[in-house]
Amino acid sequence: MKFSLFNRTAGLRAGQHAVVTGGSSGLGLALSHRFAACGLSVTLVARDKARLATAAAELSDAVPSAVIDYIAVDVADNEALEAAFGKLPVAVDLLVNSAGIIREGYFEKLDAADFHDVMNINFFGTVNCVRATLPRLKRQGGRIVNIASVAGLTGVFGYTSYCAAKHALVGFTDALRFELEPQGVRVQVVCPGEFDSPMVDDLDRTRTPENRRHTLTIPKLGIEDLADATVAGIDSGQRLIVPGAQTRLLVTAQRLAPSIANAIARQRISTAYRGPGV
Ligand SMILES: NC(=O)c1ccc[n+]([C@@H]2O[C@H](COP(=O)([O-])OP(=O)(O)OC[C@H]3O[C@@H](n4cnc5c(N)ncnc54)[C@H](OP(=O)(O)O)[C@@H]3O)[C@@H](O)[C@H]2O)c1
Repeated sequence: MKFSLFNRTAGLRAGQHAVVTGGSSGLGLALSHRFAACGLSVTLVARDKARLATAAAELSDAVPSAVIDYIAVDVADNEALEAAFGKLPVAVDLLVNSAGIIREGYFEKLDAADFHDVMNINFFGTVNCVRATLPRLKRQGGRIVNIASVAGLTGVFGYTSYCAAKHALVGFTDALRFELEPQGVRVQVVCPGEFDSPMVDDLDRTRTPENRRHTLTIPKLGIEDLADATVAGIDSGQRLIVPGAQTRLLVTAQRLAPSIANAIARQRISTAYRGPGV
């Protein structure tokens, strides 16, 4: 690993406790491996109990000394979440909100349920988890890390629901930071471009050609590099973490020269344009 989790008073430290939503798969699981390897105890959170048990066993095999637990709960179900998180140990030093879903497609082909599901899990699920852990995080002087997306900073073809949820998440995080930093809780947001994960394997089966062309303006990142860059950003206290040099370039271009960046995006989309055909 290219970073050090030690020797930084503000950084992650062995003995701390991390709660990782979406910890049974993809980025949440890759981050959990790194936390466990560095001596943090980890509680994985997701809905599917069998997948959680497999992920926990995989983590324990990789780091036999690690303390690993899991909670099977839907982050969008606030009542169930409050009850389940009520049983967490009093010390929570780090909350990583990685639980998320995606529904890609032409706006005219997505229905109301797609929008509700994406908002409920990606946005309200995170709000619920923050609320349920906040007293513990304040007690520890802990940190919150919300996994958003480049789709939380710019529009992406086919992601009307996903962009809405991730933009909401970025706005929530930026506002929350002003409230919580004076109370000793660090608040960070991660905005990755596309990376290899089960979510993207599923997406690849059905995505529109326009979405493929637009999102792959930036080449897909490997999950190991992404997780290393994310942990380094978390550890060094960056407020906005954008892993990958090409992704950072695109985000910077979008901010400094939005009309040029959008013209390039429109040109790329036009070469694959098919439309909803309604
Ligand atoms: N993959 C990408 O290219 C990409 C790019 C940018 C940002 N992101 C974001 O990064 C995060 C992780 O994505 P990933 O690709 O690692 O996804 P993934 O492999 O599909 O994993 C998603 C995780 O979230 C859990 N989850 C989903 N809905 C949940 C719910 N209602 N309650 C609790 N847990 C739930 C899943 O477990 P269960 O299904 O068992 O609940 C699973 O553990 C997401 O927030 C995603 O939006 C991904």
